[in-house]
Formats: sequence, structure tokens, C-alpha cells
Amino acid sequence: MAFDNRFYAAAEAELNRIRQKDRNTEEMRLEEIKLKFPDIYALRTKLSGTSAKLLSAIADRDGNISEKLAEIEKDNLSLREQLRSALVSRGYPQDYLEPVCECKKCRDTGVIDGKRCSCFMDMVKKASAEEINRSSPLRLCTFNEFSLSYYDDSTPTQLGATARKIMEVNLSACIKYAEDFHIPYGGLLMRGKTGLGKTHLSLSIASAVIEKGYNVIYISAPDLMRMIEKEHFGNSPSDADTLGMVIKADLLVLDDVGAEFDTKFNQSAFYNIINDRMNASLPTIISTNLDHSELPKRYGERIYSRISTMEELVFVGSDVRVKKTRLS
Ligand SMILES: Nc1ncnc2c1ncn2[C@@H]1O[C@H](COP(=O)(O)OP(=O)(O)OP(=O)(O)O)[C@@H](O)[C@H]1O
Ligand SMILES: [Mg+2]
Ligand SMILES: [Zn+2]
Repeated sequence: MAFDNRFYAAAEAELNRIRQKDRNTEEMRLEEIKLKFPDIYALRTKLSGTSAKLLSAIADRDGNISEKLAEIEKDNLSLREQLRSALVSRGYPQDYLEPVCECKKCRDTGVIDGKRCSCFMDMVKKASAEEINRSSPLRLCTFNEFSLSYYDDSTPTQLGATARKIMEVNLSACIKYAEDFHIPYGGLLMRGKTGLGKTHLSLSIASAVIEKGYNVIYISAPDLMRMIEKEHFGNSPSDADTLGMVIKADLLVLDDVGAEFDTKFNQSAFYNIINDRMNASLPTIISTNLDHSELPKRYGERIYSRISTMEELVFVGSDVRVKKTRLS
């Protein structure tokens, strides 16, 4: 998928921040060792000195250069060995004073073998997802703010258990879903009437999965369809590729499914998104007010049969939005 240049620029900026952080960590570690263990610091200073010796040997050109180089090389190896064992004997990892990097593959250069490293491409993807997420209420909802006290615990619902018991199971399932998140992974279908916490819990999962470093897109179906339609009919910048980003995101949270306009265009976009993501084993969380009789009517059997394979959470109780407004 082609990304817009501004997302590359955002990734470059992020990479610079990481490099700066690496350098700061190196300086702090060196400062710490200098204070606590001057003998180790002296070794380290001596080791840095060997590079200077190397340069002057090369500059000298006095005939026996290869002999000199071999000698410096020997010194260098022995100093390195002494430094490592000195660090380990004081309880530090042996590479504590080596250059620091977050990505072992590209050593925070962003490039391996002339190609962009996967760490860099992840930053590009994240920057593009952030743009879509900017308008969403992400991070406003967490599992901790989800209270079971809003759900009745006295009378059994049609499903047998009380609303509170059912919602307790749903909450645990969502926490576990976020904790165990990996790719490939299955999807979730959150179904139920208005104001029961579907958006709250799907956003809580989205936040937790973003924290784990995945590229997550949260969007409501009406907003998404409007964006895709605009791009399709050429009414927005030509570099926007919302459909592509939504299909490729590690996790897509598609909220309010069924609230978008019921058109052939939207149905087909929805089918493509669900189908492509399932074929790539990428997880999608769908939340909807529609039930099992309305879903196939609205989207047809092809989409419905795909949605039916997702783990389903049925939300029950009475409108928490109304309860909260009354209390405030
Ligand atoms: N168990 C809960 N604890 C705390 N706040 C809750 C809980 N459930 C819902 N809320 C809050 O109530 C409001 C409505 O919830 P939410 O938007 O998640 O409902 P919904 O099921 O997505 O409804 P709709 O079908 O209308 O989209 C939100 O502000 C949400 O944060
Ligand atoms: Mg909602
Ligand atoms: Zn890398």
C-alpha cells in the first residue's frame, strides 16, 4: 500500500526522536558508570583511545603499518573483554556501554539492505492510523471506567442470567481479547440495544491494543462510508486511501454498523473490507444495534455468513447513557 509523504515524514521524525533517546540513554549510562565505578570508566576511556591510535597509525605510513594495526587490534579485543567482565562482575549486562538501539534489525537507522526496515514501516502505518483516529473519542474509554453497577442484578434476563452477570462475562471477554491480542486473530461481534457500552468496550480494547504497539483504526461505519465514497468519487485528495488503510490495519474497530446509509455502494465496500480482512486473518470488531434477523436482511447472506463466524458478545440491560444523565 502506498502511503502519503507526510506519513513518511512523521515516521522520520519519530525515528529521530528514538535516536535522540538512544544517545541520551548512552550518555546517562556512561555518566552513571563514571560516578559509581571509575575503574570501569577508565577502561572504557582507554578503549575509545584505541580508535585514535588506529587513525594515527594509518596517517603515519611508516612502513610497518600492518604490524601496528595488528597490535592495536589485539589491545582493542583485550580491552573489550576486560570491560565486559568488569561490567558483569558488578551486575550489569556485558553490553551496558555499547551503542543503544530499539530495533536490533536496523540499529535505528530505519534501513536494512537498502530497504526500509519493518520498524520504520510500522511507524508510517501508525502515523496514518492516527490521522483517522484523531476525530474519534479514543483513550476516553478504559476498562477501569466500565462499571458493572449500571446493570441489574436482581431479575434474570431472557438469556437466563442477570444483566450484570452477562455484562461481567462480556467485560472479562473484552479484557482477555485485548490481553491476548496477536495476529492472526479472530473478530468480535458486539450486539445490543443503544447505550449498553458497546462503544465504550470496543474503544477500551482499541486503546489497550494501541498500547501494545499495534496499528489500530477505530471508526464508525457511517463516517467510514462517507470517507470512502468521497474518495471514490474524487471529492477528496487523491493520495487518501482510507479503504486501503482500513483493510490493512492490524485491528479495525468498526462501530455503529447498520447506521450508515443502506446503499449498494456501502454494502459492497463493507463486503470488501470484511472479506479482505478475513482472508488476511486480520481481526475486526463490529458493533451494531442490528439482531440476527436484521443483519442478513441488511447485508445479504454472503456478508452475514462471514460475520457469523466472529465471537459474539450480546449486550443487555437498560440504557446506561440515560442512567448516567439522570445521575449527573
Ligand atoms: N458500564 C458502563 N460503565 C460506565 N460507563 C458506561 C458503561 N456503559 C456505557 N457507559 C457510558 O455510557 C455512554 C453510552 O455507552 P456506549 O456509547 O458505549 O453505548 P453503545 O452500546 O455503544 O450505544 P449505541 O448503540 O447507541 O452506539 C458512554 O458515555 C459510555 O462511556
Ligand atoms: Mg456505540
Ligand atoms: Zn528497524
